[in-house]
Amino acid sequence: MTKTKVLMVASECAPFAKTGGLADVVGVLPSQLNAQGLDCRVIMPLYRQIKEKYIKQLAFMRWTTLKIGWRSMYSGLFSMEHEGVQYYFIDNEFYFNSQSIYTEYSYDIERFSFFQRAVLDALGAPMNFYPDVLHCHDWQTGMIPCLLDAHFRPHGYFTDMRTVYTVHNLKYQGVHGVNQIADLMDLPSRYMTDYGILKDGVPNFMKAGIVYSDMVTTVSPTYAKEIFLPFYGEGLDGVLRNYSYKVHGILNGLDLDVWNPVTDEFLEKQYGIEDFAKGKAANKRAMQEAMDLERVPDVPLITMITRLVDQKGVDLLLRVLDEMMEEDCQFILLGTGDGYYENEFRQAERRHQSNMRSCIMYSNDMSHRLYAAGDIFLMPSVFEPCGLSQMISMRYGNVPLVRGTGGLKDTVTPFDPVSGEGNGFSFPNINAHDMLFLLKDAMKLYRNDPEAWNKLVYNGMTGDYSWETSAQAYIDLYDKLLQS
Ligand code: GLC
Repeated sequence: MTKTKVLMVASECAPFAKTGGLADVVGVLPSQLNAQGLDCRVIMPLYRQIKEKYIKQLAFMRWTTLKIGWRSMYSGLFSMEHEGVQYYFIDNEFYFNSQSIYTEYSYDIERFSFFQRAVLDALGAPMNFYPDVLHCHDWQTGMIPCLLDAHFRPHGYFTDMRTVYTVHNLKYQGVHGVNQIADLMDLPSRYMTDYGILKDGVPNFMKAGIVYSDMVTTVSPTYAKEIFLPFYGEGLDGVLRNYSYKVHGILNGLDLDVWNPVTDEFLEKQYGIEDFAKGKAANKRAMQEAMDLERVPDVPLITMITRLVDQKGVDLLLRVLDEMMEEDCQFILLGTGDGYYENEFRQAERRHQSNMRSCIMYSNDMSHRLYAAGDIFLMPSVFEPCGLSQMISMRYGNVPLVRGTGGLKDTVTPFDPVSGEGNGFSFPNINAHDMLFLLKDAMKLYRNDPEAWNKLVYNGMTGDYSWETSAQAYIDLYDKLLQS
């Protein structure tokens, strides 16, 4: 039997380049698919940071020039095998030699326009790989199914190849002017219509991905339903409703090797399901010491690890933060993002010197230690396509308190002290005091009923966050597509 060949196309992929959950997913899904018998590979831009770190392992495959509007641009192709997965990288220092993965919005549109065209140009003979399925992720790759349709299929190329488009976050769509996109993409005018790639009169990469791909997936079953509603649809709910027959929700999993308190080397003390009480106490104490907070073992430590953007419900927290800090609790926040939020949290720390710390930074090792140290993990997202942190926190025995939306609703079940079932706390409405009152209830349970609390921790730690079921769901989709 020949293996199904899949090429993932994305702007980020761990461990090479990461700003968010997209990189985690593209970083782990291919090896999971390969473990189940597929041949899945990845292609992404060769950012400066990758070139610097992996220069010795990168193999040069070929170079060519691509015509982008009036310009002739160099496009190099490199490859590398990493932990059993084959990676390809598109090289062009003019576009990808920047300090960070993303730069300035309209320039990013041009950079990823180049990337998408370069990927299609490299497909087949140059890569020596003819995928059955091209699997694109988020707006940076949304034009690929359309470009395939416009530039290749009419000439008989890749006619049997199928496309899957995964939406990780509908909020970022890749929108630019008609003239610029016509220039960058060399698109016939028949695509520049409201039935094609235009949304409100301008080209929209996310919309193009939805319209021209054979199958659309998103990262949780609940988000897959929510995006048909105006509140979550970010203006594309109508388009999504039109194409609802091809929309599927598949929940993300975790990389269980990276997120495992039994083996996690960043922790003060590693722990498993038998000794979590001891293990968590040691990590909590170490964290209190590092943060110069009072070394109290039985005061609930509330934690939050997040990008500081409005999606994450930061406004809800700011609304009730002072009230929350009046409680007998400690709170540590880790994250970066909008300058406004960063400053609000810095100031809040000054007001609550005795029990609150704001760590306005990105730190992978600190995030591991904080997941392990915390008792309650706060994640009051306004919307959440899947969310990975709530699953990580559960695996580390840090009980999540979330707003019940998207992937949070699919993974966090409210605790019922009578039956002992459930793994966290969840409130339905975007309301700051609903969150605060639930938080007070949670802290009461923590203080007054250690037995119930331990059951809650246990349920979270023993949950199934593996990729196996989800990888199988992707395989079923690929099979269905290839049979059609
Ligand atoms: C985006 C979403 C997040 C999801 C991640 C991976 O970052 O905001 O909810 O978990 O993509 O799919």
